[in-house]
Amino acid sequence: MPLQPTPDDKFSFGLWTVGWPARDPFGDATREPLDPVEAVHKLAELGAYGITFHDDDLVPFGSGAPTRDGIIAGFRKALDETGMVVPMVTTNLFTHPAFKDGGFTSNDRGVRRFALRKVLRNMDLAAELGARTLVLWGGREGAEYDAAKDVHAALDRYREALNLLAQYSEDQGYGLRFAIEPKPNEPRGDILLPTAGHALAFVQELARPELFGINPEVGHEQMSNLNFAHGIAQALWHGKLFHIDLNGQHGPKFDQDLVFGHGDLLNAFALVDLLEHGAPGGGPRYDGPRHFDYKPSRTEDSIGVWASAEANMRMYLLLKERARAFRADPAVQEALAESGVLDLATPTLGPGETYGDLLADRTAFEEFDADAAGRRGYGFVRLHQLAIDHVMQA
Ligand code: GCO
Ligand code: MN
Ligand code: MN
Repeated sequence: MPLQPTPDDKFSFGLWTVGWPARDPFGDATREPLDPVEAVHKLAELGAYGITFHDDDLVPFGSGAPTRDGIIAGFRKALDETGMVVPMVTTNLFTHPAFKDGGFTSNDRGVRRFALRKVLRNMDLAAELGARTLVLWGGREGAEYDAAKDVHAALDRYREALNLLAQYSEDQGYGLRFAIEPKPNEPRGDILLPTAGHALAFVQELARPELFGINPEVGHEQMSNLNFAHGIAQALWHGKLFHIDLNGQHGPKFDQDLVFGHGDLLNAFALVDLLEHGAPGGGPRYDGPRHFDYKPSRTEDSIGVWASAEANMRMYLLLKERARAFRADPAVQEALAESGVLDLATPTLGPGETYGDLLADRTAFEEFDADAAGRRGYGFVRLHQLAIDHVMQA
C-alpha cells in the first residue's frame, strides 16, 4: 500500500502547527520555538508539498524592514532548495491585544483600519510567494456579551473589509481566491460566521462572490456537533470548497486540533471518500491542498511533533486506500443500489415534465401505494457495516 506521502498527494501544513510551542491558557510552553526554515526542510523530507503561515508566524509582529526582508529571503531559499510551495497564506488578526474585540469588526474604527492594512500587506507577501488562496479566520470577530456587539453593523463592516481585499487583489493582478474559515467559538464566546452554512450565505452578499469560498475545519464544525462530511458535500455543491483544514475532534468541547482521523474516524473516512471520489451519484472531487491544521499535543517532544505530522498524512493515505477499496467492491455497489443511494441522482420529474403532468399522473398519488413504500427496507445498516468492514479491513 502506498503509505509514503509524495508531493502529488498535495499535503500541506501550517507553520503554526508543527511550530506550536504548546503554550495553553493553563500552562507554559513545553517545546522550543521551531525555525520556519527547519520546518520547510523537515516537512519536505516527510513528503509534504506545501507550507502555509500567518504573517506573524514567519515575521514576528513589529519586526523592522531589514529583519523582515532577511527572514523572507531565508524562507524563500528554503522553498527553492526543497521545491516546497506556499499554496495559502493567512493573517493573524487575533494575537495582539489590539485585536481583543476583533479586527475587521472591532468596535474601534482605528483597529479596523489597522487590520485592513495588516491584511493588505500580507496579500503582497502572499502574491510574492505564489500563494493562490488567502484564508480569513476571524477568531476574534465576535463577542461574549449580546449587548456588546451590533451584529448587523458588524456584518456590514465584515462585508466592507472583504470587498476591499478583493478589489485590491484584482487591481494588483494577484488573482487571489479568498476562503472564510468558520468556527463557532474560542477564543470569543461567540464568533461571527460560526459554521460553514453561515459563511456560505454571507459570501453571496459580497460584491465579488465568485472570489470567495470557504475553508472549513473538521474540528470547528464538530464543535457544533455538525456532520463535517455533509458540510463539505454542501460546500462542493455550491462550488465553494476553496481550501480545507484537516484535523481531529471528539465532539462539542474545546478545539482539540488532534491529528486527522484521531477524532471521529468514520466521518473522516466518509470525508476522504468524498474528497477523492466525489458524491456517489456524481459530483465534483476536491483537488486543492490537503492542509493539516492540527496541534501536536502538549505532551509531545520534538520527536512526537514529527511523528504526529507523519500520522496526519498516514491517516489520510490509509483512509484513501480504504475508500478506494470501498468504492471498487461489487458488494458495496450492490448495497448502494439496493439502498436507493444511486437513485437519488435521478430527477424527481421526467425530462420536460411540468407540475401539470405531475398532477395528471395518477400513479404518483391516487394509485401510489404509500403503505408499500412504508414497508420498504433501505438496508442502510448493512451498507454502513460494509463501510466499517473496509475501514477495519475485516
Ligand atoms: C484555530 C484556527 C486557526 C486558523 C488559522 C488560519 O482554531 O486556531 O483553526 O488555526 O485555521 O488561524 O487563519
Ligand atoms: Mn482549530
Ligand atoms: Mn484552521
